[in-house]
Amino acid sequence: MREDVYLIGGFVRDIILYRTRNEMDFLVVGEGPSFARKLAKALNVKEVTIFKNFGTAHFIYKDMTLEFVGARKESYSRNSRNPKVEKGTLDDDLNRRDFTINCLAISLNKNTFGELLDKFNGLEDINEKLIRTPLEPGKTFDDDPLRIMRAFRFASQLGFIIDPNVLKFASEMAERLKIVSQERITDEFMKILGSPKPSVGLKLLFESGVMKVIFPEIHNLAGVEQRKDYHHKDVFQHTCIVIDNISAVSDNIWLRFAALVHDIAKPQTKRFIEGTGWSFHGHEDLGAKIMKSIFERLKLPLTNWNI
Ligand code: CTP
Repeated sequence: MREDVYLIGGFVRDIILYRTRNEMDFLVVGEGPSFARKLAKALNVKEVTIFKNFGTAHFIYKDMTLEFVGARKESYSRNSRNPKVEKGTLDDDLNRRDFTINCLAISLNKNTFGELLDKFNGLEDINEKLIRTPLEPGKTFDDDPLRIMRAFRFASQLGFIIDPNVLKFASEMAERLKIVSQERITDEFMKILGSPKPSVGLKLLFESGVMKVIFPEIHNLAGVEQRKDYHHKDVFQHTCIVIDNISAVSDNIWLRFAALVHDIAKPQTKRFIEGTGWSFHGHEDLGAKIMKSIFERLKLPLTNWNI
């Protein structure tokens, strides 16, 4: 059987943005894994990883990871962490994707080889640096609430802006992130932290109320308090500045993470001392103590933890 195959998603978006990447996404209208096996054989690649339940497969070819997915209608059932997957057409598959900038496809089929399919004006949105959902945002986010964080990640990573209606739904649906697995949430959060100017994503997380759901300790850093002439600066704003400064000189994700949490215990240690002003005595020690449980909760690596 000859399947229709398209290059899709982040790979097509990144070609247009001149961003290099080592992952290629293929959409197969038919069986993704069986097409992956046939192509691997033709390329003389021995190892193919198949995820039967998800109908996906991947293999490595010349430093490039090739990902294959069969076209599907997919819906994440309202209270489950796992998607329900059904076979679908190219059109079904495009409808269920997250953002218009990720819905572009390039045909690899004989009669239309090289043609760009752009059902939702994704090319225009890339040029306008705009993050929009292909369907009504409530539907797209309901299918997979992690997409709320993905919107913020793309804004932070690519320097794009988010359509106001998408932002509105992101705020309204922030609580829905509670059904998403911690691993996926942490993965997106770390991508935001790894972006060129992480404060862009961190502020979106905060302003939408998502931070309160996924990382309440960072949410609690915000808030300006005044007493007499003493203006206690907003620790969240200060933290954002420190992270951006570190990120301008280092890509080290743990250094960035250290910047994120360096004042994490300030809210608990805050005291007002008459004649002196605000004090955060002992916040470094308390901060260091609570980090292990935060790492455990976020499912971050705990190897070599010596505290
Ligand atoms: N996708 C989606 N909803 C998600 C995750 C992914 O619709 N929650 C779709 C998008 O079309 C996306 C493609 O699957 O482009 C591939 O997903 P992924 O590899 O996670 O993201 P990329 O867009 O490729 O970006 P990056 O590789 O930079 O994470």
